[in-house]
Amino acid sequence: MNPSVVVVGSYVQDLTWRCAEFPQPGETVIGRFAAGPGGKGSNQAVAAARAGAAVGFIGAVGADGFAADGRRFHRREKIFTHLIAKPRHATGTAGILVNRAGQNEIIVALGANAFLARGDIDVRLINRAHVVVTQLESNLATTAHVLRLARRAGVVTVLNPAPMRADFDPRLLVNVDVLIPNEPEFVSLVNHRRPGLLTEKKLHRLQPEQLHELCRSLGVPTVIVTLGARGCLVSQPKDFEIIAGHAGIKVVDTTGAGDAFVGGFAAGLVRFEGDSGRAARFANAVAALSVTKFGTAPAMPTAREIARFLRRQRD
Ligand code: RIB
Repeated sequence: MNPSVVVVGSYVQDLTWRCAEFPQPGETVIGRFAAGPGGKGSNQAVAAARAGAAVGFIGAVGADGFAADGRRFHRREKIFTHLIAKPRHATGTAGILVNRAGQNEIIVALGANAFLARGDIDVRLINRAHVVVTQLESNLATTAHVLRLARRAGVVTVLNPAPMRADFDPRLLVNVDVLIPNEPEFVSLVNHRRPGLLTEKKLHRLQPEQLHELCRSLGVPTVIVTLGARGCLVSQPKDFEIIAGHAGIKVVDTTGAGDAFVGGFAAGLVRFEGDSGRAARFANAVAALSVTKFGTAPAMPTAREIARFLRRQRD
């Protein structure tokens, strides 16, 4: 198999509790529980595969039951997977709370993901891809290495800087073609360069032109800031475009919506032969559909669901 989209990143076992309201410090609330496959990298791979791309995934897991579930899940999703076993470490886990409004709070224990090593990366897989997708939920040195390899091979490099971390080194942006942060991640990226310049509150007051200008200051050719239900801003060297969010969506769980966008974007980039605007529009639809179901990877829409949704939106 020759995957056109290769995702290098995290596989995590999601442990999710749904509740009416998030508990306050010291409070216990009654909720409902579900477990499922997650991890930003894996979610993005699933989103891209279901959206129609041939996908490869490289990540690290422990030698436990969660890892076995992950392998089975990727097989079912027809993802060409290299899940490298790190027997001395546990598979990553996430504790997720989802409230009645579909908002989420997440704690991730990286486990084996933090030990994905340069030597674990199948260079041929990277070299033959059209798009390589990375996030920050894996080993950061290996992520930087993957971006370097992909750039050297002329492959389009995508970084979703999630979750933003204190040890993030902005120097890796030099090998990124497309950067896809959400609003808090964008604030952190800007403040890395110019400490204290931006807050989320200030960001909300910016005109699109001002946001575009800040995107340009990051030194990455294409920056796509995802704006939740409001859609996204696609900033490119010569111009920018606001893509509005889809109205009338019944939100049940926003967990993994960013991953849906990133995976949908990668699949769209292949489908629309490198057209970032069309890919972002496609990604917007993938993300909108993902929030209508519970869970992360299992909530990613299929190509048929996306096509039907886009048809309805046009009518
Ligand atoms: O983006 C959502 C994902 O973040 C969840 O699947 C969880 O595993 C965390 O990694």
